[in-house]
Amino acid sequence: MTDIRSNYARIAATYDGKWADVLAVHAKAVADRLPLTSAGRVAELGCGPGRLLDHLATLAPQARVLGADLTEAMIRRAPAQYGRVVADVQALPFAAGSLEAVVMPFVLFHLPDLPRGLAAVRRALATGGSFGAVTWSGHDPHPAYDVWVRVINEYGAPADPSPQMPSNGVTSDPEKLAAALTTAGFGQVDITVERFRHQPTAAEFLAHSRVIGSMARRLDLLPAERRTACLAAAEEALAELVPEDFVESGTILYSTARAA
Ligand SMILES: C[S@@+](CC[C@H](N)C(=O)[O-])C[C@H]1O[C@@H](n2cnc3c(N)ncnc32)[C@H](O)[C@@H]1O
Repeated sequence: MTDIRSNYARIAATYDGKWADVLAVHAKAVADRLPLTSAGRVAELGCGPGRLLDHLATLAPQARVLGADLTEAMIRRAPAQYGRVVADVQALPFAAGSLEAVVMPFVLFHLPDLPRGLAAVRRALATGGSFGAVTWSGHDPHPAYDVWVRVINEYGAPADPSPQMPSNGVTSDPEKLAAALTTAGFGQVDITVERFRHQPTAAEFLAHSRVIGSMARRLDLLPAERRTACLAAAEEALAELVPEDFVESGTILYSTARAA
């Protein structure tokens, strides 16, 4: 079962730390590509803890800036001076044509029904309104992650009960994503392949990985004593690695489009 809301409710506090700042670099970069100067109503959909909202307010000084998210525990962390709405992208509570710009960093891959979600976003946008998104694409080898997976497998953790990226097969591929946007009624689709790079320390890697991601969900299924032993073994194995082994890098996609 893909229960995205309860997953994000569980990880909200950890997400709203360094990880939100790492991702915000890319959220800001794609927002910078949109013509927001005179926009009147701008929304980040799937805004999480709202790291992008201040930047949107700077880019669109005349705008009412809104954040919407499926997960109340995430959006509660967003700055309270902006409109905050608990909403599913696939069933948006906004009137047709009421938004002039929508930004969706690191969200599209979560949508169980991507065509339905993109159609709902297109409907909420005014014709000519702008759209920006960031999605994951390719991953470079990541020795620290390989060690983490190996130790979790050795301790017999069950499979991830709740895979979180049902649309990643489309959103990670520039051609498929462009086709999905075009089908949903977007034009001027422009997708560029960009680099992602993040280098945590060993302690930061472990603090993040034991809470966020597929391996953390597997770890949680181990009985408490076994989980403690597994974490100790992972810590010991990770201590053997050099700092470069912790680099997480790869490609991400910056998508921009206009509501046609
Ligand atoms: C990886 S976080 C990205 C948060 C924020 N955009 C950022 O860049 O930090 C994904 C967010 O999308 C939200 N989300 C997932 N599916 C959603 C949906 N169908 N409708 C609205 N929000 C959704 C999650 O609750 C989570 O807060």
